[in-house]
Amino acid sequence: MPRSTTSVATMKNNTATYARKATVIFLLALMAIFLTNSFSQTGSLAQAQTQAQNSQSPVGAPLGNSSDSDMWRAVKRGDRGNVSIIDKKSGVLIQSGGQFLRDLRNGPMFSYGAAAIIGIIALLSLFYMLRGRIRIDSGKSDVTVTRFNSFERFSHWLLAISFVILGLSGLNMIYGKFLLTPLVGKSSYGDIAMAGKWLHNFVAFAFILGLVLILIIWIRHNFPNRHDIVWLLKGGGMFTRGTHPPAKKFNAGQKILFWLIILAGASIALSGVSLLFPFQFSLFADTFEIINRLGFNLPTELTGIEEMQLSLVWHSVVSIFMVCVIIAHIYIGSVGMEGAFDAMGSGEVDKNWAKEHHSIWVDELESKERAKAASKQVAAE
Ligand code: HEM
Repeated sequence: MPRSTTSVATMKNNTATYARKATVIFLLALMAIFLTNSFSQTGSLAQAQTQAQNSQSPVGAPLGNSSDSDMWRAVKRGDRGNVSIIDKKSGVLIQSGGQFLRDLRNGPMFSYGAAAIIGIIALLSLFYMLRGRIRIDSGKSDVTVTRFNSFERFSHWLLAISFVILGLSGLNMIYGKFLLTPLVGKSSYGDIAMAGKWLHNFVAFAFILGLVLILIIWIRHNFPNRHDIVWLLKGGGMFTRGTHPPAKKFNAGQKILFWLIILAGASIALSGVSLLFPFQFSLFADTFEIINRLGFNLPTELTGIEEMQLSLVWHSVVSIFMVCVIIAHIYIGSVGMEGAFDAMGSGEVDKNWAKEHHSIWVDELESKERAKAASKQVAAE
């Protein structure tokens, strides 16, 4: 074949190859454009569908309302939503503080409360082992003086017996299930718990009455005076034999006990009444409002259930504190000190006991008696 004919044929072949390649590239480009377009169309459709669902689908439908779990998480956290009624507090759908309360009650409150009660009993036992019973150093005189009249003793025992019943039935609510169920079984424990609950509710009124009575009859003897400082500095003579700091009718230790009982007792009574008549009081919101005037920032808009929860925690914590204080009081008023119980038993105490523990009070009694005798003598003459 001549050379010129060969090159013409080659050129034709190359041109055809280029044309085929160009066509393939063109077709591929077309397909790419088509596919991209169709994918993007599918995307916007999905978006549109989601948007439509978001605005129309009820909670719980697939992909409805952005995310169910977010919403329920907020509900569980106790986040406040919007409500159109006046009571905006109702915007809290589920008040999840109950879970916190339960953890607190079964955790720290349970264990620290038990530790406090066991701790005070251990301390008193140690004190008894080291110091023994506090005796009347000068021995019994066999002459007695009237320490408390019958009304004083009635008021004391009304308060004391009601407190012991409230204390035992209250402790049963916290520890009874743990301590008694293994001993008496579930069913009997249920009966005990129910009886204790009724007793607790009704005996509370006797306790409040006792508290008011002792406040009225003893408040005048419980204001601090200069002798109290000496008494406190000498530890009331509790730790050393033969030391008897002077005191009036009540010494500094008794005054501290008196005010603790009045304040803690009143606080327990108030929180107790708010538990007895649920959702009727806003004790904590009102108290927080007063405290906030001192620059604090405590919540003052509390739901009814939050009020109840705070009352319950406060009531239990202050009661356990008071149980510890009273255990110490019972110890010193009975086994801990010779001659003390008579004051609340018969009302008559040995004169030497009275001189050792309340010397100024005895002096006052004697000078009153002398004045009485003198005025009788003047009247007779
Ligand atoms: C249940 C056993 C109790 C016993 C054996 C007992 C014994 C005594 C005695 C002997 C006194 C007179 C002390 C003195 O002459 O100076 C007294 C006073 C007093 N008791 Fe009790 N008591 C008991 C329970 C309670 C309870 C449960 C409370 C209060 C909730 C209480 C509150 C008081 C108060 C406020 C005084 C006057 C201040 C003082 O003497 O400390 N007592 N008690």
